[in-house]
Amino acid sequence: MLAVHLVSFLFSKLQEDPTKKVDRFLHAMRLHDDQLRDISARFLSEMKKGLSAQSSAAATVKMLPTHVRSTPDGSEKGQFLTLDFGGSVFKVLHVKVREEMGIRRGEVEMEEKTYPIPKGLLEGKGSELFDHVSESLKDFLQEKNISLEKKHPLAFTFSFPCEQSSLSQGLLLSWSKNVRARGVLGKDVVQALREAIDRTGGMNVEVLAMVNDTVATMMTCGFEDRRCEVGLIVGTGTNACYMEELRHIDLVEGDEGRMCVNTDWGAFGDDGALKDVITEYDREVDAASNNAGRQIFEKMVSGMYLGELVRLVVLKMARLGLLFDGHVSDALKTKGKITTAHVAAMEETKNGLKNTRSILMGLNLTPSQNDCVAVQHVGTIVSFRSSNLVAAGLAAILTQIQRNRNLRTFRVSVGVDGTVYKTHPQYPKRLHKVLKRLLPECRVRFILSNSGSSKGAALVTAVAQRLASQKQKVDETLSLFRLSYQQLQVVKARMRAGMEAGLRREGRSELKMLPSFVYNSPDGTEHGKYLAFDLRGTNFKALLVNFKNGLQKAELYNKIYTIPPEMMQGPGAELFDHIAECVSDFLDYMGIKNLGLPAGFIFPFPCKQTAIDAGTLVCWTKGFKTTDCEGHDVVKMLQEAIKRRKEFELDITALVNDTVGTMMSCAYEDPQCEVGLIVGAGSNVCYMEELRNIETEQRDGNEEGGTDGAKTTGVAEVERMCINTEWGGLGEAGSLDDIITPSDVEVDQNSVNPEKQRFEKLTSGMYLGEVVRHTLLDLTRQGLLFRGRVTDALKTPGIIQTKYLSQIERDRLALLQVRSILQRLGLDSTCDDSIIVKEVCGAVSHRAAQLCGAGISAVIDKIRENRGLDHFDVTVGVEGKLYKLHPHFSRVLQETVRVLSPQCRVTFLPSEEGRMKGAALITAGVRQMKM
Ligand code: BG6
Ligand code: GLC
Ligand code: GLC
Repeated sequence: MLAVHLVSFLFSKLQEDPTKKVDRFLHAMRLHDDQLRDISARFLSEMKKGLSAQSSAAATVKMLPTHVRSTPDGSEKGQFLTLDFGGSVFKVLHVKVREEMGIRRGEVEMEEKTYPIPKGLLEGKGSELFDHVSESLKDFLQEKNISLEKKHPLAFTFSFPCEQSSLSQGLLLSWSKNVRARGVLGKDVVQALREAIDRTGGMNVEVLAMVNDTVATMMTCGFEDRRCEVGLIVGTGTNACYMEELRHIDLVEGDEGRMCVNTDWGAFGDDGALKDVITEYDREVDAASNNAGRQIFEKMVSGMYLGELVRLVVLKMARLGLLFDGHVSDALKTKGKITTAHVAAMEETKNGLKNTRSILMGLNLTPSQNDCVAVQHVGTIVSFRSSNLVAAGLAAILTQIQRNRNLRTFRVSVGVDGTVYKTHPQYPKRLHKVLKRLLPECRVRFILSNSGSSKGAALVTAVAQRLASQKQKVDETLSLFRLSYQQLQVVKARMRAGMEAGLRREGRSELKMLPSFVYNSPDGTEHGKYLAFDLRGTNFKALLVNFKNGLQKAELYNKIYTIPPEMMQGPGAELFDHIAECVSDFLDYMGIKNLGLPAGFIFPFPCKQTAIDAGTLVCWTKGFKTTDCEGHDVVKMLQEAIKRRKEFELDITALVNDTVGTMMSCAYEDPQCEVGLIVGAGSNVCYMEELRNIETEQRDGNEEGGTDGAKTTGVAEVERMCINTEWGGLGEAGSLDDIITPSDVEVDQNSVNPEKQRFEKLTSGMYLGEVVRHTLLDLTRQGLLFRGRVTDALKTPGIIQTKYLSQIERDRLALLQVRSILQRLGLDSTCDDSIIVKEVCGAVSHRAAQLCGAGISAVIDKIRENRGLDHFDVTVGVEGKLYKLHPHFSRVLQETVRVLSPQCRVTFLPSEEGRMKGAALITAGVRQMKM
């Protein structure tokens, strides 16, 4: 009985599946899913470390910005030379992308030649290695009859980690795989290649782009599949890249759009992060490599090492008597005798075992059937671990993309290349399967790059070439908006000259320099009830103020009325009847109709005043074109309209420009406020001018001018009067022609007042959106924007309001948000379009702010010189949405003033709807003086 048992035990032992023995032996290499998830999480946190500016230096996963910002969009074309260096073979190629009629098959045509590189060169002097590369290129050009004279753009696939500050520059961080040429580390490899090409001579080649093989692979595959946002190599080395949000890449300025990041993941584990999964065989492989302690992950995964891992395991098992009856051959003891190609052959479905046997026999071993099964299984475990680790890395990358996009489930394609993935029969299947288990919510499509990476490298270069030429054209257009310091000085000088001429009332001056008959700042003694009315663009505002010793404790009540847009262009009487009706309603509403309260009337248009309460409208501005008003006294027009109602009387005590109202309310807070600036729908400035410099025209007929302003005041002691410059008129006689762009001409010609208010049309909210729209139209017609399609939306006047400029130019506004603003306006834009639109908005508003700054500088230096001061402290009261809401306008304006007026220290005091309070203060002042 016992004997039977013994026999059956022995029999069963003999029958034991040899794979079980290997499984037990290689237990540490069989990573289960929980371990892989854990590795994946460590990987993800290392990626984050690599992206962040603070920690990137210490990160093993380097996360190198590649400066490739988009995947192929189908518009790439051209002929390119490419060099593919760093994989198992070195190749020179000529790639034609949609260059000739008749190119079918993926619309890319390639010719290539492989050039062997002697081992000595890979480990010798760097310059000699690059010379070899460059000489191979020349040989290729000659052999393929490609002109040596014609200039050829060249893309360089260089499959080693490089720190790139642009597409055409890259400092080598470290060699990996089988290369360790001297004198290249830390150097720019593009420059090294250029120098070698120069040394070789006789070629006309421009190296436009350098890319990692992962990036080039992603691009190659992206040509077929727009979803391809990841590039993977499992070849001699291993690595992956993916499209990351720019806002997460600390090392690159800007936060808009995406950029491809080369993870250079081979170095994962170099800091010990994989300690718990590393085996003695990994340590042995590492110790025997030419870069011990580095590329730990790569050494567990890639083709350069898999065969060696198998050999070391088999050797150990043989030594322990677990294989070949304990027999070990010299060949088995020799490094490199089992290659990754052997491992792939062992796992072939049909001939795997047969191949294993002949491989082992080639190593002078005499394997049994079980030995063959066991060795084959060692290969399986080693290569399975490789695909498992790659899956863990990929899962981390895909999780990052998923989180970036805030998606629960998503589809993505991964472009793959490399001999392991391509030639190992089971590898792809295993990788796909594990990845699916690790990331079930993600549908991944793997696209094999059959044609290598050069197609992608050429596409990157094509995009770079196109973008460079587009950018140049966009820059040319936008350069018209960029003003130099000298130009701003000239604008300042012209503003000053315009002011002087206007004050002297010489001929038709561009600046009207209208006296306001306002002499004093408010003094805080104002008391009693006053009204203020303000005719704005599309509305009319009424205010009742009850001053109790100035503004401090004043009570304010207001109401806003709509002005129907058609009234801006209709008969004058209708407009004033409407205003009278609003006034009537307000007085009823406040219950003050018969109190006969004094009123200030803000009429924010150029009025030639002959007294504080009288002034004729010189001309309409800001889109108004109401008839029968120009040349008439607007106070009288309002009073006549009120008379026509036969209901009440209104005592219009002061006619006030909005700038003057603004200045007065700010002067109440800050006595140094002697300038009032409006940058809203219109653009204008007022300031305190010396009476001796002002020529005025009197109320009663004396149209001669030349009357000393002081006499008109009746107040002998005052020295200054507020002047409404109406600076918007600068340029009407051509003084701005040298800075005016074609878009400005369009805006002017399509306005209701062509050739008028030229400065206003460059600086105010009513026009900036239109300047932007015309510039976008221009760029679109040049084919640089919106794919060259001029849509109805883009042709619609007024579609881009200035408030959108303020939104679009916000610093941290992601491109997608810019796109959605444009989309809402009916402008369908790509990310690249959005970048250009933002640039246009920036150029237009920057110029506006600078011009206002130049204007202010002219004004304050004039005041300073009037007073013979070397240094002048002054406050400018400011109102207007452009100033208040635009993210950069106020800063640029202030900066310009600082630079152009170094002898002035200027405080800008924003006025919160102060103009009406200012008008009431003026009214109170006039009243109290009369009493
Ligand atoms: C090739 C690409 O197909 O694959 C190379 O053209 C890349 O750019 C290589 O480096 C990676 O695989 P391997 O196995 O050749 O290292
Ligand atoms: C190595 C290189 C890496 C390259 C990879 C695949 O890991 O460091 O840049 O992409 O090999 O070739
Ligand atoms: C226009 C008017 C001017 C006004 C300015 C701001 O330029 O002509 O009077 O001050 O707009 O509203």
